[in-house]
Amino acid sequence: NGRDADGRGTNARGTDGRGTNGGPAGARAASDPLGAPTARRDGRAKVTGAARYAAEHTPPGCLWARSVGAGIARGRITAVHREDALSVPGVTAVLAHDNAPRLLPGADPTLWVLQDNRVPHRGWPVALVVAESPEAAREGAAALHIDYAEEPHDVLLTARHPELYTPETANGGHPGVRERGDFGAAHAASAVRVDGTYKVTGLHNHPMEPHASTAYWEDGMLVAHDSNQGSTDVRNDLAALFGLAEDQVAVINEYVGGGFGSKGTTRPVVVLAAMAARHTGRPVKLALPRRHLPAVTGHRAPTLQRVRLGADAQGRIAALEHEAITQTSTVKEFVEQAAVPARVMYTSPHSVTIHRVVALDVPTPSWMRAPGEAPGMYALESAMDELAVAVGADPIELRLRNDTEREPDTGRPFSSRHLAECLREGARRFGWRADDREPAVRREGNLLIGTGVAAATYPVYFMPSHATATAAPDGTFTVAVNAADIGTGARTVLAQIAASALRTSPDRVRLDLGDSRLPAAPVAGGSSGTASWGSAVHKACTELTERLEEHDGLLPPEGMSVGADTVQEATAPSPYARHAFGATFAEVTVDTVTGEVRVRRLLGVYAAGRILNPVTARSQFIGAMTMGLGMALSEGSTMDPRFGDYAERDLASYHVPVNADLPSIEAHWIDEADEHLNPMGSKGIGEIGIVGTAAAIGNAVHHATGLRLRELPLTPDRLL
Ligand code: MOS
Repeated sequence: NGRDADGRGTNARGTDGRGTNGGPAGARAASDPLGAPTARRDGRAKVTGAARYAAEHTPPGCLWARSVGAGIARGRITAVHREDALSVPGVTAVLAHDNAPRLLPGADPTLWVLQDNRVPHRGWPVALVVAESPEAAREGAAALHIDYAEEPHDVLLTARHPELYTPETANGGHPGVRERGDFGAAHAASAVRVDGTYKVTGLHNHPMEPHASTAYWEDGMLVAHDSNQGSTDVRNDLAALFGLAEDQVAVINEYVGGGFGSKGTTRPVVVLAAMAARHTGRPVKLALPRRHLPAVTGHRAPTLQRVRLGADAQGRIAALEHEAITQTSTVKEFVEQAAVPARVMYTSPHSVTIHRVVALDVPTPSWMRAPGEAPGMYALESAMDELAVAVGADPIELRLRNDTEREPDTGRPFSSRHLAECLREGARRFGWRADDREPAVRREGNLLIGTGVAAATYPVYFMPSHATATAAPDGTFTVAVNAADIGTGARTVLAQIAASALRTSPDRVRLDLGDSRLPAAPVAGGSSGTASWGSAVHKACTELTERLEEHDGLLPPEGMSVGADTVQEATAPSPYARHAFGATFAEVTVDTVTGEVRVRRLLGVYAAGRILNPVTARSQFIGAMTMGLGMALSEGSTMDPRFGDYAERDLASYHVPVNADLPSIEAHWIDEADEHLNPMGSKGIGEIGIVGTAAAIGNAVHHATGLRLRELPLTPDRLL
């Protein structure tokens, strides 16, 4: 258990000397619901089965659908033979490009399904079998025969691929290339140089609930229960694809069983269900089997990264180059922004950060928890460890020597940066020993023991949102915002934010989310949900409180309602560079007989603004650290060059860590006061936990064995 006895985490003081009581957030009263350890309000509904997910809605007359993915890696469909599928009892329709409803162009091209005969990658949706039962749909899909004209495919990412190019922008709108000073000259003149090439394999999100949609048309209106991270955006995409007004589409995502980015954009699942419902005139349910996920819901693209550092004899960096090579599909450009964190982390007067990408015949990559930062910081923080070894410095001390008060890339001051405090606090709690850094000397029988550290960072995003707050005459309130609670506790924290602004208790606040008919709101993505939705909730509730005071408590029977939006606040440029920081520590054992790496302890300390709910925050941190453990040791998708797609398609072959994989995990935080963020003083916490974890484990493996592997995951075959 990583919490202090009072459940509030650590209270280390910041470099600004203000600690927790300096900023606007710190001035709150002890009884303030914001910051209080509050249990999830939907916990009971979830564990008793009362919470219903997208595939658990079965409108009267509902049909079941099964999607069919392309059986080749590239080419064209030449014929769809429906007879055998249609002769399966219960099968009512087979949709393919020759009979499916037409979609309007313009939206995300990965949603342009069943519109033409092109096959851009294996698993691309080419047909949908609709039936009276899930069994009949599955049997029908197996009986469907499709003829293809196959073309040669190219699915292998290599550092010398002739079609690599430098994109204008990487994911998130970051420039593809940034250059400062004269890297070449500064690197050549450096006393110490490090040059490492790091490889991160393809990874898949695999949320507990696979993607699913139940869709129907009613009086010209499209209604969909869909598992996604933001139903306002899905509603907008469906309206654009089907040529409808936004108020002619309703998308409901009241409960979502995880997404990790794979549900951050609209997926073909909901489009296919809506097409089939239109085609058949009945409700249609499409629940993707897990083995279909890799082809249609995105993956973290593999990266080949080269980091070159040039430093003085004390390890102070003069020259930094980070090149990230990655893949996208021929359907859409998506560039994992792995070189971006090197623009944020350390003093580096001479720097080049560059992305290169090639469009292969692979499924389209997409967001996966901490896109960019997770693989990018694996490379950078491994290289920092190599630099520490090269100059003979403790890795914590080396990072402190390269700490910076301004973001190197933009020159802007940080709104707050407590990286040094995270490193020091983590070292203290972990029991870090700077005098024990010699590799490969600690043994317990066949086991070699090592410890490692890495830094973490994640940007602060803030997106425009709308919200309404309503007071009822009985003293209760209803707050509405189309946020998505994907398992994070958003419902609970938003009710705390509302109650704080309304000066009431959270149990007097009803919180409505997860329905696109509620006030428009952005996705649960980029660790921005609480800041974005919460700011709108805070604004509506603050204005309502002021109105109620003017009114002296006398309300009409229908109550009083206030709406607010944060378009101005969220789009105003900030003079500050805003990022969360952290430090991760790992202790590993390496079995010298089997090559197996086990992590004995993981400990993270984070500086992520004001922590609004220590219970749900701790879950976010340790959940992401666990995902980092998977990235380090067991998760990885293997591209099969002949088959033309990833081989791992289930949780048996794609091993996500479980409790048995990690005896001890602790998350702590520095309760940071930062008044340049939002009314709550919070930074995002959903993603930073994965950042740095794999590097900390890799660095611990080096400390244990003396081996610098530079390729994830650290499986026994690589160790031996
Ligand atoms: Mo997260 S990968 O931004 O949904």
